[in-house]
Amino acid sequence: MAVADWPRPSANAATGDRHAPARHAGRRQGETRMTERVVMIGGTSGIGLAVAQGQLAAGREVVVTGRDAAKLAAVVERLGAGASGEAVDARDEEAMHAFFAGLGAVDHVVVTVTGHSAAGAFRDLTADALRSAGEGKLIAQTIAAQAALKVLRADGSLTFVTAGSAGAARPGTAGLAAVNAAVEAMVPVLAVELAPARVNAVSPGIIDTPWWDWMDAETRQQTFENYARATPVGRVGRAEDVAEAIGYLIGAGFVSGVVLGVDGGSRHRPTAL
Ligand SMILES: NC(=O)c1ccc[n+]([C@@H]2O[C@H](COP(=O)([O-])OP(=O)(O)OC[C@H]3O[C@@H](n4cnc5c(N)ncnc54)[C@H](OP(=O)(O)O)[C@@H]3O)[C@@H](O)[C@H]2O)c1
Repeated sequence: MAVADWPRPSANAATGDRHAPARHAGRRQGETRMTERVVMIGGTSGIGLAVAQGQLAAGREVVVTGRDAAKLAAVVERLGAGASGEAVDARDEEAMHAFFAGLGAVDHVVVTVTGHSAAGAFRDLTADALRSAGEGKLIAQTIAAQAALKVLRADGSLTFVTAGSAGAARPGTAGLAAVNAAVEAMVPVLAVELAPARVNAVSPGIIDTPWWDWMDAETRQQTFENYARATPVGRVGRAEDVAEAIGYLIGAGFVSGVVLGVDGGSRHRPTAL
């Protein structure tokens, strides 16, 4: 058959739009779902919340999680129709497995959870701080992904959120770099091991979210200004910038094993010859 005779790709049967979320019946016996469902592990603020908003706008159902039950309830109410949530700590293996088992079939999972403890000069980095950072990100993201696999659609997607520190060689970020690089290293392996599920990550630069609340306002402003000056696009990121990239990875059925930098080009600074 000549290329010209190949059949045309079919549009989404329900909407005629090839980029719209596929509509399908859920996998659980007796359950029929017509809308794709996205689970945000860490979805009550910052990047996760922006993803939830973007995915609702794209016509998907979202389930958000976080540890703070009151914050979660307020966010679910604010997100409105199509959103639900549960307060669960991603570091708690038993709780994460119970959460996903109770959910039933899901199509896409995005894992954003993290801690802050490994920031700061390497000389002052304590083993406890590094352990806690690993627990908050590498271990928590791994637990969440493993628990999700039991209910994730066979060809669904799993997206981790790492950080540009993994490859930035920025003094004061060795601990953060190590933890985030560990998650990034798993991505290509899992893309092969868990196929046909797609596994990707986004690796954000500095994004203006509540993640920075631990830092005093003046230092944060200085940090943001320094980053904006040193970054090709000339600003820090917004949660929506990262949500847009995650939305792309959720819908991009031929993309797997990718760590997508969402950092305004900060990995590519000008160098003098
Ligand atoms: N903001 C940045 O500049 C930046 C840069 C690079 C990478 N990142 C990465 O982007 C991801 C998202 O960060 P963000 O800026 O959106 O932070 P954020 O605004 O602090 O949001 C973090 C979300 O995760 C939840 N969470 C944290 N730990 C959790 C746990 N153990 N179990 C369940 N939920 C948990 C939080 O809710 P609760 O507190 O209620 O649990 C919240 O919903 C993180 O992995 C971070 O490392 C951020």
